[in-house]
Amino acid sequence: MSIDTATGLEAPAELSSERVKDIFSHIAKKYERFNAVSSFGAYKLWLAGMMRQAPIEEHHDVLDIAGGTGDVTFTVARTKHPRHIQCTDLVPEMLEVAQTHVDEGDGAGVPIDFEVVDAQDIPYPDDSFDAITMAYGIRNMPDRPRALSEMLRVLKPGGSLVCLEFSTPPNRAWRALYRFYLHRFIPFWGDLITGDKEGFVYLTKSIEAFPDQEGLAALMREAGFTDVTWKNYTGGIAAVHVAKKPE
Ligand SMILES: C[S@@+](CC[C@H](N)C(=O)[O-])C[C@H]1O[C@@H](n2cnc3c(N)ncnc32)[C@H](O)[C@@H]1O
Repeated sequence: MSIDTATGLEAPAELSSERVKDIFSHIAKKYERFNAVSSFGAYKLWLAGMMRQAPIEEHHDVLDIAGGTGDVTFTVARTKHPRHIQCTDLVPEMLEVAQTHVDEGDGAGVPIDFEVVDAQDIPYPDDSFDAITMAYGIRNMPDRPRALSEMLRVLKPGGSLVCLEFSTPPNRAWRALYRFYLHRFIPFWGDLITGDKEGFVYLTKSIEAFPDQEGLAALMREAGFTDVTWKNYTGGIAAVHVAKKPE
């Protein structure tokens, strides 16, 4: 079943896919500046947490899903030095920005390839990768069970999915303050920095419609992952889930 990722209600997959292509193809060049400003730099702390939790070793082949402009790919390259990283995304304009960073030396000498890939239909053979990374990707996918099944399929047995995503602060007061910030400030920052207010209204809606920590863990288990754990960051505004493909 596919959903509208802005509401969580059943809808044709094209609705969300076309919207996400439209948003990210237009903001690609300004995406990184928006991230830095709107999160007050917190996204760097979340990324560092993601790396601490990621069981990635030097002999590993890594698949970065929804890799965007390459933040996760380059951080994995710098901190883990794996054998190879396949950085993929649905939107070619995002990967073009990532490619410019390789040209600037951000790949830390790790071989990195880029390919336009819809995570709901991954064009790689079964059991291909030791680890999959995905930051702020699954929330934008209209058929999440299918995307997670595809990730499970291309992971090697014993391999891990490491997923960073916005989540739900368990503390009521913190959650209320965060929601106020989401509604009042995110569309404002987005409009100021990228000129695309609607894209950021979508961002706030998709965050609110997204399952909480346990809900995402349940989706992962339903897809066949085991040993699903998560850690909250900034009081649960973000969470990093780690899930394993059974041996
Ligand atoms: C918020 S960005 C995150 C980019 C990057 N992971 C980061 O941490 O900066 C979300 C990305 O998900 C990508 N995306 C959305 N739906 C996708 C899909 N079905 N398959 C692959 N990528 C997708 C978008 O094109 C966009 O680049």
